Amino acid sequence: MKLRFSPPSVTTLVQEVPRLVAWRRRIEGAARKGVVFWDESLPLSWLAEIPGSRPLPAGESCKRWHVLEAALTHLAAARLPRTGSVIAVGGGATCDLTAMAASLYRRGVDLILAPTTLLSVIDAGVGGKTAVDLEESGRLLKNFAGSFHPAREVWICPEVLVTLSERERRSGVGELLKMLWISRQRADLEGISAWIREGRIARGFWRQVRQALAAKVRIVERDPLDRKGIRAALNYGHTVGHAMESLAGGKLSHGEAVAWGMWVESALVDRKFAQEVRQALQFLDFADPRSVLAGDRADWEFALEGDKKSDGKKISLKVATGRGLREVRKTPAQIADAARAFL
Ligand SMILES: NC(=O)c1ccc[n+]([C@@H]2O[C@H](COP(=O)([O-])OP(=O)(O)OC[C@H]3O[C@@H](n4cnc5c(N)ncnc54)[C@H](O)[C@@H]3O)[C@@H](O)[C@H]2O)c1
Ligand SMILES: [Zn+2]
Repeated sequence: MKLRFSPPSVTTLVQEVPRLVAWRRRIEGAARKGVVFWDESLPLSWLAEIPGSRPLPAGESCKRWHVLEAALTHLAAARLPRTGSVIAVGGGATCDLTAMAASLYRRGVDLILAPTTLLSVIDAGVGGKTAVDLEESGRLLKNFAGSFHPAREVWICPEVLVTLSERERRSGVGELLKMLWISRQRADLEGISAWIREGRIARGFWRQVRQALAAKVRIVERDPLDRKGIRAALNYGHTVGHAMESLAGGKLSHGEAVAWGMWVESALVDRKFAQEVRQALQFLDFADPRSVLAGDRADWEFALEGDKKSDGKKISLKVATGRGLREVRKTPAQIADAARAFL
């Protein structure tokens, strides 16, 4: 016998909600039929007053099994029905953890995401991936457990981004540039610079945020379950970036490391385009990472060997060039040499 059928799918509605007051009203409204999880460090005191809501540890520290279990137990204690919703208010970490809880609770309930960082607006909020980090022999294995559980709705509010620190604004810009460059769009550096320096969201800057978000949506639509290699483009800058993050021991934000990672990765195939990347980063005052990178060639290789796109020998990278994306396969040693030569 042969049976063939299509799994159920969710259509995600991404909506901009320009005013904070309207965004808040939506979240409070959704909470009547759902449970809100929020990043405990958000400067939005009204979240704590929503009945049944629960704060999560701030940022990445929420992406742990014990936090997931506590979130699931909270949903069970609230007797959230299968028709109820789970709502996340926070950055990518809060969205990842909450989404995973929503995907597991009673085998899956509706998810609403209200992202509060630039990164989560353009990247983590759309794409359906959920995650927690694992720990093995003292090493943090980021996003090693997770599922696909797309949100039913994503509510984006520019006003909520104004409280982000400069470090977080800059980190989000690393991913914004990535999205623009992998989709062959020019970055308006003046607008981006004003956002980093003053947290000002000018119309031109917001247009780029929309372009980046649309680019992510297009990629995800073509490869929703990350099986066709298309989503590998979203990893541009990340192979070298992740290695830099671990070598810098916390002194580089994720987005900064990705930004410099894009430069090194593009330099593997297109020096001219890499030069443009470098000039853009210098224009935006991304600090030279060399002073914070500790480690010799062996440390670089070790850091690169754990890359998720590695088959044990070579790492596949999808890299932006002046002529669009190009795939390259290099050994960790080759990438380590390039990184050490360029950085
Ligand atoms: N699911 C996906 O497809 C996907 C894609 C990209 C990244 N991610 C994940 O997203 C996470 C990174 O996301 P992130 O950069 O948003 O980090 P984050 O959620 O850790 O937030 C960064 C920091 O900003 C604070 N913060 C959040 N919103 C704020 C606001 N409005 N005002 C002031 N402070 C605020 C948080 O407390 C935290 O300290 C990583 O865990 C990464 O793995 C997931
Ligand atoms: Zn990233």
